Amino acid sequence: MKQSLLQYLTCPSCAGPILLSSTAKSEGPEVLEGELSCASCSKVFPVVRGIPRFANLSQLESDKAATAANFGWSWQHFSHHDDRYAEQFLGWIAPVQPEFFAGKLVLEGGCGKGRHTQLAANWGARDVIGIDLSDAVETAFAATRHLPNAHIVQADIYQLPFARIFDYAFSVGVLHHLPDPLGGFASLAAKVKPGGHLSAWVYGAENNQWIIRFVNPLREHVTSRMPSRLLFHLAKAPTALMYLASKLLYGPLNRSEGGRSIAQHLFYNEYMEFVSGFNWREQHNIVFDHLVAPTAFYISGEEFQEWWQDIHATEVVIGWRNKNSWRGFGRIKSLPETSA
Ligand SMILES: C[S@@+](CC[C@H](N)C(=O)[O-])C[C@H]1O[C@@H](n2cnc3c(N)ncnc32)[C@H](O)[C@@H]1O
Ligand SMILES: [Zn+2]
Repeated sequence: MKQSLLQYLTCPSCAGPILLSSTAKSEGPEVLEGELSCASCSKVFPVVRGIPRFANLSQLESDKAATAANFGWSWQHFSHHDDRYAEQFLGWIAPVQPEFFAGKLVLEGGCGKGRHTQLAANWGARDVIGIDLSDAVETAFAATRHLPNAHIVQADIYQLPFARIFDYAFSVGVLHHLPDPLGGFASLAAKVKPGGHLSAWVYGAENNQWIIRFVNPLREHVTSRMPSRLLFHLAKAPTALMYLASKLLYGPLNRSEGGRSIAQHLFYNEYMEFVSGFNWREQHNIVFDHLVAPTAFYISGEEFQEWWQDIHATEVVIGWRNKNSWRGFGRIKSLPETSA
């Protein structure tokens, strides 16, 4: 944890200021071990292995604990980097472009292994804070500690240790895994200052009926409950099907003049074309990620629109990504002008 993070932290229980113990152990600019405490209510939050811990995994509700355990394992084992992450990220947060990050204070809700925290920092955010509930923060911290403007915090999206200070917040692939997706969305939005911006990307209900009907029961009752190591190996079978279909059929057809018109009629074509650019490791990661989640909601376009109305966002742009998911970008309403 960099000392510069302290200025942004507040107590998740009472919103009081957070202080760092004088006995903290540092290595260069990083505080590696120490104790944070609330100056108002005296709650304490440890810093362990360089990461401030505002969430206590042993005290979580069972659904959240299962989600954190499975994703924690996932991101610690799929810690690789892929060159297409930047392009993929921009697809999820469109119409946001890299220049948008310059000089902004940014919050990422559910940072996983920190791949997007890293991109936001490299694209010039003044500071970017990635929060995650799971032990994925260990991987995220290792991936970002060299960046002076990147910070990782272990916290629950519903109890964020910040005031309403951010210029921009985003959350990619997280909200649909929460017990109450809209509640998580609203909690993140509540940390963006008036006039700031918010992005979110979620699984869509449309075109995913086959997953909802056939894959979901298997995921809920079998794959998310089995030991992650076993699922890691079992997921290689569906990955092999996806890999072969994407590399031998969808990719080549979509790249050839005559093939495109045929490809358009293929099942799940837009998504499979996109996935065809990924190597085996990343495709394995994608399949595992789908099967490991104990909770997953598929959000309809109508419901997603309502989320943005619920938080009174303005200038909202909603996009249909790969014909199987929704992305949204909007502005948090400015406060009404007060007369002096
Ligand atoms: C599918 S992963 C996406 C990670 C990252 N956004 C990415 O795209 O690489 C979902 C992440 O949400 C995190 N998560 C789940 N519930 C959470 C909660 N209540 N608060 C914060 N993070 C949570 C998980 O630990 C996991 O890392
Ligand atoms: Zn407090």
